[in-house]
Amino acid sequence: MNTNQEVPANLEQEIYKLKKHLNAVILAHYYQFPEIQDLADFVGDSLELSRKAAATDAKVIVFAGVHFMAETAKILSPHKQVLLPDLEAGCSLAEGCPADAFKLFKEQHPDHIVITYINSSAEVKALSDIICTSSSAEKIIRQLPESQPIIFAPDRNLGKYLMKKTGRDMVLWQGSCIVHETFNERKILELKTQHPGAKLIAHPECEESLLAEADFIGSTSGLLKHVCESSDKEFIVATEVGIIHQMQIHCPDKLFIPAPPNDASCSCNECPYMKLNTMEKLYLCMKNRSPEILINENLRQRALLPIQRMLEMSA
Ligand code: 13P
Ligand code: SF4
Repeated sequence: MNTNQEVPANLEQEIYKLKKHLNAVILAHYYQFPEIQDLADFVGDSLELSRKAAATDAKVIVFAGVHFMAETAKILSPHKQVLLPDLEAGCSLAEGCPADAFKLFKEQHPDHIVITYINSSAEVKALSDIICTSSSAEKIIRQLPESQPIIFAPDRNLGKYLMKKTGRDMVLWQGSCIVHETFNERKILELKTQHPGAKLIAHPECEESLLAEADFIGSTSGLLKHVCESSDKEFIVATEVGIIHQMQIHCPDKLFIPAPPNDASCSCNECPYMKLNTMEKLYLCMKNRSPEILINENLRQRALLPIQRMLEMSA
């Protein structure tokens, strides 16, 4: 007899069968393994995935991404079952901003409005006024009156980038992403000499000095759109390597070179949290309907408000 942890050989077919049986939708972030992206109903950035989660008719949302993404889906769609293949799939930004410390930080700046990156826990979202993603942050900040002081959390690199872009001074929480801080600028410059036509494209979670060298800066979907629309043929990609799968699908005639990490022997340009999700775990979470994201209703309602503001202000 099958135990709950046994997986069949024809995983892909079985996942499709379960998807139909559960009336489920599979949402995947660009940083997921290519085989997971290939069978997902929708692949997108954090903003697009939240919009899909809010709008879907499916009874079950299978979230191939990290915890804060699945939690946001549950906040937006409380009556749907939200499954995450591995509950340990966290995020260094969310983990580096505990709610109790954030509350104290916020209390030191009582007249500030709090804009928080979606890469945060539900508790931190509940302490915030507006949530943003990398693709919506600039638009949201520009809608606030010039005189309004702002706290931006938890990513200091994205925060600094937005300060430069919008000319707004903001108080920053000093968090960072372990993946986007790993790129080696000297090796990137060497790559540029080897590929003189290659353009450096980067996610705004990268460090300021790297962003200063970039030819284009954008969210994951912004980077994908840019490479498709650009007449350039070669790109050095400074974000998690998973995005290159979609770039190759959309632009098979172009060359995408992953930006090298500091340590050549590691896979540090892979997000260790995103990559916890595997086809096997995807199958098992659908078969067992677990791990499931559950959230206290009071917390959900408090976290919902700033997320709704994000959806309205980024429409
Ligand atoms: P995007 O919203 O650009 O997809 O970014 C999510 C993320 O976690 C980047 O590290
Ligand atoms: Fe978090 Fe960085 Fe992974 Fe994105 S790449 S989920 S910011 S740890």
